[in-house]
Amino acid sequence: MAENLPLSGNPARLLDPGAGLGILACAVCESSTSDIELEAFELDDELAEYLNGCLSYAQQWMSKRGYSLAYTILREDFVLTYADALYWSTSQPFDAVIANPPYFKLSKSDPRARVADRVVHGQPNIYALFMAVSAALLRPGGHAMFITPRSYAAGQYFSRFRGYFFGKLRPRMAHLFESRRDVFDEVLQESLILLAERSDRDSDVILSSSASSADFAQVVQRRKSTDEVLGVDNILHLSLTDEDDSIGEIVRAWSGSLRAYGMEISTGPVVPFRATDFVSENGDVPFTHAPLLWMQNVKPMRCAWPVRHKSQYIRMDGAEKLLLPNKNYVLLRRFSAKEERQRLTAAPYLADFDTPVIGIENHLNYIYRPGGDLSPEETRGLAALLNSSLMDTYFRRFSGNTQVSATELRALPLPPLELITELGRLSAHSDAPVDTFITELLGLYA
Ligand SMILES: C[S@@+](CC[C@H](N)C(=O)[O-])C[C@H]1O[C@@H](n2cnc3c(N)ncnc32)[C@H](O)[C@@H]1O
Repeated sequence: MAENLPLSGNPARLLDPGAGLGILACAVCESSTSDIELEAFELDDELAEYLNGCLSYAQQWMSKRGYSLAYTILREDFVLTYADALYWSTSQPFDAVIANPPYFKLSKSDPRARVADRVVHGQPNIYALFMAVSAALLRPGGHAMFITPRSYAAGQYFSRFRGYFFGKLRPRMAHLFESRRDVFDEVLQESLILLAERSDRDSDVILSSSASSADFAQVVQRRKSTDEVLGVDNILHLSLTDEDDSIGEIVRAWSGSLRAYGMEISTGPVVPFRATDFVSENGDVPFTHAPLLWMQNVKPMRCAWPVRHKSQYIRMDGAEKLLLPNKNYVLLRRFSAKEERQRLTAAPYLADFDTPVIGIENHLNYIYRPGGDLSPEETRGLAALLNSSLMDTYFRRFSGNTQVSATELRALPLPPLELITELGRLSAHSDAPVDTFITELLGLYA
């Protein structure tokens, strides 16, 4: 991280927020060929003592090599101290930032979340607040190097943060650690190193990945344009293999979308703990009850109902607002277990039940056509496409999470509708894996 962080200015004004023992700032000193003026934040008093010891050693070390290090340790909360910079233009005091910020979720009422309100949507994580405030403190042309969880790279919760951050900084380099366990013990996510420059000028972004730091020496670097890396809603697309590249190219060339085909995606309206009067383990379908579909009912390309262990019925009388007309839907799990092979599990629901309405639980998303109906071919074809390994590879390029949100699906480029319906026709008459048809159809509709 230190070796790849461009340092300009003499002395270079460096920020290390959440410095711990100062390992990152010391690494910058080690590779620096200029004097450094460092501001290090550390909230923990005990650590701050040791930090002082380490930085004073770095000072002597640098002076032996003919450079100076001047440092200030602030035993204060970094976000509370500098959040103003998110709202007012400041003197942008720093040439460079290096940070391994703390990671934990904050409640929306936490004072740090409140002062950084403009980058918060849903439940904030403190690391994104550190990144945003650091970005605000960089001078134009200054660089920031962060190691954090990958979660900000996609997803709705970080959308506001990304809008702010990538509105100011352009990515220049990213390295993904794919192992969820081997980088930091307490972070059960992929970790991402990002180098970004405060600039509105695009230039190439260098991407690389490794399982952990053990195989760091063998990484292969790939050069991409900013457009290829920063997608709709500032989602970071990390194309890390040849396969990622070719699938990225195929999908980016598609000009369709749910909206273009008159379709919409929504979240299942039944929240069981708020509907305890209606949800039940038994029921009389279609007379008094409708089937209630949960994540457990949705398998790849098929809807299984009833299944054991879940209340499978919803009383119709009084629950009208929670129920949906019995039409064709593509049902999608909103969450997947970490060990599951696929990101997305989708099933076609072809108005299978003999009831006027059905219930869809809140852990499912459903795709439908407002004011009309999806044809059976569209329903099957779309479900097949979303279950395919082509889409799975595409999703993995931008999402380290086990979830794909409705927002991401709305932004998803889709192939021509004729390809989707043809896929639906083919998959209705054969049990062959959808991937076989997709490869064939992509050739035809290229
Ligand atoms: C993940 S550790 C990283 C430490 C060091 N940069 C490293 O890479 O080893 C984050 C550090 O930030 C400090 N910290 C947590 N919240 C803070 C805050 N609001 N302001 C300043 N420091 C904070 C913690 O005490 C901890 O030492």
